[in-house]
Amino acid sequence: MRFENKVALVTGAGHGIGQAIAARLASEGAKVLVVDINPDQASEALIELRAVGATAELCIADISQRAEVEAAVARAVEHWGKLDILACSAGLMDREPFLEMTDDLWHRVIDTNLYGGFLCGQVAARQMVKQGHGGRIVYVASNSGIFGGRGRAAYGASKAGIINLTQSMAIELAAHDIYVNAVAPGPTLTRPEVQGELMGSARTRMPLGRFGKPSEIATVAAFLASDECSFVTGHTYAADGGFTVAGLMEG
Ligand SMILES: NC(=O)c1ccc[n+]([C@@H]2O[C@H](COP(=O)([O-])OP(=O)(O)OC[C@H]3O[C@@H](n4cnc5c(N)ncnc54)[C@H](O)[C@@H]3O)[C@@H](O)[C@H]2O)c1
Repeated sequence: MRFENKVALVTGAGHGIGQAIAARLASEGAKVLVVDINPDQASEALIELRAVGATAELCIADISQRAEVEAAVARAVEHWGKLDILACSAGLMDREPFLEMTDDLWHRVIDTNLYGGFLCGQVAARQMVKQGHGGRIVYVASNSGIFGGRGRAAYGASKAGIINLTQSMAIELAAHDIYVNAVAPGPTLTRPEVQGELMGSARTRMPLGRFGKPSEIATVAAFLASDECSFVTGHTYAADGGFTVAGLMEG
């Protein structure tokens, strides 16, 4: 019960990795505000959390809109009097070949993944500073922010930005006892119906050779959100089956 008496706001908690992080934090005692842009998914996720006895509330918000992010943080404080943990998983994974990439896709991905990450981090950190007893911020980056990938110019740049944002925030917020870290998942099975088999080019470069489960990413995020994470800040922790460390795999 590492999160007993803790209040957590989880973005993208309506589906996939964010939903798994919300479930993990709640299972260890956190009160969780489910924040998502998709009302149907978010309501479903809330029902599932409450069905297992979690204390959870809902806030429909677009993380790329400052007023909506401010309303979400205010909602957590309204319900439970404070905010201890921010976990930012909401994101878009849209891809397009570089030469055909439109301004629209670039702005959509960067606005949601990077600007949204900045907004959530800033608004949550201001609340934590006001409270005066520290906090934990965890971003969900990606191994696409560590190396290049086909079709991923916007997505990779947004996640590389999150990794650097994590470092800069860690430096400036350390004085307030606010720890900022990221988990960088590799291919994770959040939509089994459309993802099918792990593609060959990923499988042959991944020592573990399989998709990760959302719960396996949540395990790392939960450590980074906990008080056990007491000497780690500004770090991006790859949870990717060894993808980012693999060099030669044969011979
Ligand atoms: N699934 C993977 O293989 C993988 C790998 C590496 C990194 N990631 C990252 O993990 C995070 C979650 O991915 P996922 O696979 O769980 O995706 P998902 O699509 O299953 O879930 C993302 C959630 O974010 C919400 N969302 C999207 N835009 C939003 C916005 N503007 N405001 C609020 N909510 C918004 C969606 O409604 C959805 O519920 C993303 O940041 C993604 O880049 C995923």
